[in-house]
Amino acid sequence: MGDWVLRPMRPEDVAQAERLSDESFYELDVRGRRGDQPPPVRRSERHREVWSERTRHLVEHDPEGCWVAEDETGMVGMATSFRREVVWCLATYAVLPDQQGRGIGQQLLAAAMHHGRSCTRAMLSSSSDARAVKLYHRAGFELHPQMYLSGPLDRTAIPVVEKVRDGSAADVDLMDSLDRGTRGAGHGVDHQLMLRTWRLLVSDTSTGRGYAYLNERGHLALLAAGNRRTAVRLLWAALADGADEPVVGHVTGANQWVLDVGFAAGLRLGQDGYLGLRGMKPPAPYVHNGALL
Ligand SMILES: CC(C)(COP(=O)(O)OP(=O)(O)OC[C@H]1O[C@@H](n2cnc3c(N)ncnc32)[C@H](O)[C@@H]1OP(=O)(O)O)[C@@H](O)C(=O)NCCC(=O)NCCS
Repeated sequence: MGDWVLRPMRPEDVAQAERLSDESFYELDVRGRRGDQPPPVRRSERHREVWSERTRHLVEHDPEGCWVAEDETGMVGMATSFRREVVWCLATYAVLPDQQGRGIGQQLLAAAMHHGRSCTRAMLSSSSDARAVKLYHRAGFELHPQMYLSGPLDRTAIPVVEKVRDGSAADVDLMDSLDRGTRGAGHGVDHQLMLRTWRLLVSDTSTGRGYAYLNERGHLALLAAGNRRTAVRLLWAALADGADEPVVGHVTGANQWVLDVGFAAGLRLGQDGYLGLRGMKPPAPYVHNGALL
């Protein structure tokens, strides 16, 4: 190791970790921006709150999966990860821009992955950062390109959506069972966090079951369903109730049904980052969350 040390993240580190990750991802956006993309923006106050609440939740439930790197100047890197049943997930991972490329990231990833050593499956959503993808590939992750659909929503294209209702904590068993059918492990305590922060839509009929969360900005945050037809119905419901300029991110090639809906809704297709997987194939019908997968 160089002139930095790793130690477990504590709840009082979360505010600093938030600033560090915002700085790192903002700089990545500035560096990687293509001409056809909107200019990078810093996180909103609400986004910061949601990020911090999620990170406190992970530190509380998975203290051995959350790490910081620090040198004499303070925190220079952070990684949060968690285990749910048989799956280990990397939630956030960042090193300060002027400290990247010195080996800090590799050490942080190794410490976080140690928390998942008993898990048979692993998931992460990677940025397009050249350093990140190199490290993930070296750590044995298969990389699956992610697509996204975005743009002004054509509300006249939205069909009448039936058999979708608002969900509640009473739906957690149903959701965990759908998670196991799609990604191999329930979200468990993460459903409590998502229920506190986001809006839940559920479809539970004799022909199929599924759920979708809309995040604090009115974008799809996570969707799991027992079949494609139910997934399509839920995506339409999420678009109808969500933002006028939605972003449906984290779409893998295994989920072409998202493109059917997205194009019909007037959205444009783009590509951003990778779903990194170990011990599993891309889940479907499923749209993963970038941090809670
Ligand atoms: C991804 C990240 C956490 C890695 O941390 P890091 O401290 O930079 O990583 P390391 O120095 O341990 O390793 C980086 C690797 O990329 C290589 N690298 C350095 N600069 C590079 C470049 N411009 N292009 C490609 N590879 C590069 C390094 O040589 C090293 O590989 P090596 O071990 O074979 O030498 C950090 O770069 C970062 O915060 N990126 C922006 C945010 C981000 O994308 N986070 C991941 C989200 S999923």
